[in-house]
Amino acid sequence: MSFNSKIKTIEWIDNSSRMIDQTLLPKEFKTVDIKTTEGMYKAIKDMIVRGAPAIGIAGAHGVALAGIELAKTENDKENFLNKLSQKAEYIKSSRPTAVNLMWAVDKQVKLAKEIQGSIDDITNALIENGIKLENEDIEINKKMGDYGAQIVPKGATILTHCNAGALATVGYGTALGVIRSAFAKDPSIKVFADETRPRQQGARLTTWELTQDGIPTTLITDGMCSYFMSKGMIDLVVVGADRIAANGDTANKIGTYTVAIAAKYHNIPFYIAAPLSTIDISIKSGKEIPIEERNHEEVTHINGDWICAKDVNIINPGFDVTPNELITGIITEKGILKPNFVESIKNAFM
Ligand code: MRU
Repeated sequence: MSFNSKIKTIEWIDNSSRMIDQTLLPKEFKTVDIKTTEGMYKAIKDMIVRGAPAIGIAGAHGVALAGIELAKTENDKENFLNKLSQKAEYIKSSRPTAVNLMWAVDKQVKLAKEIQGSIDDITNALIENGIKLENEDIEINKKMGDYGAQIVPKGATILTHCNAGALATVGYGTALGVIRSAFAKDPSIKVFADETRPRQQGARLTTWELTQDGIPTTLITDGMCSYFMSKGMIDLVVVGADRIAANGDTANKIGTYTVAIAAKYHNIPFYIAAPLSTIDISIKSGKEIPIEERNHEEVTHINGDWICAKDVNIINPGFDVTPNELITGIITEKGILKPNFVESIKNAFM
């Protein structure tokens, strides 16, 4: 599969949510059709679909699936809406950090409550809105790409961490969208991709995406970034985000904070690329962002094999928070937000 194709990472088709199974990449390319709320909860939790914007769309589809399920048995609109809200909370509980999930699910529940028509009318509106959010995601990413491409110096080597690409969104990507747009203007740019332990989204997904687009990509392990920065081999860092607080503090895949510190030390610009739906203006700082603790086997095992002592202690946070003072700018669909982030974020929402 190539990202020039019309295939979306997640798409509503025939009353189900079709998504690329990202747990199988890059070995195997396969899509799965999710048809139930329970199925969607598992798909998000088990990371068949992953990446904040893609999880958001999965959440929106999940509420539409909940509507379809409930419409089969519920005749009373109030009961329907109460049960829909319960299922929505269940979907939201699948993963805690990426705020796009809460954003999209809450949007769907609000819409359901506003519709004046029948239960069928509500269900149809939820489906239509899920498809609308899907299409908007790609448009937003392209806008971010256009803004972001402006800050990429000619011939730059860009470091990215984890996967904030087409696979983390419906298509095109956030951080990788910036890289795609920059590459379209200047084919001499290059990418360094961090492997991103423990789930290796950088190795498995980012290199898979970028090399198919013909973008020269070098894979490095997570501990190598400061070495290459010290050698003058990295000009710019662009990463995605899972939740940004009102002051610009940014939660992203574990290891991002380390990259940001190394970039600051070497005077390398460090940018976040994320849609406004990733900004949680209800929280003042990154201290309030819930960090997901993930399965310890992600650390103790590689490809099903133990790689450490059996009785060693394990701790496995999925994300870290980069403080706003390490961030040069936040690339959004409304332009590039600069420090003071409290002000620039507030203005972006006006
Ligand atoms: O655990 P994941 O793979 O869902 O986490 C995704 C990330 O943290 C990515 O780094 C990304 O920047 C956020 S989604 C565009």
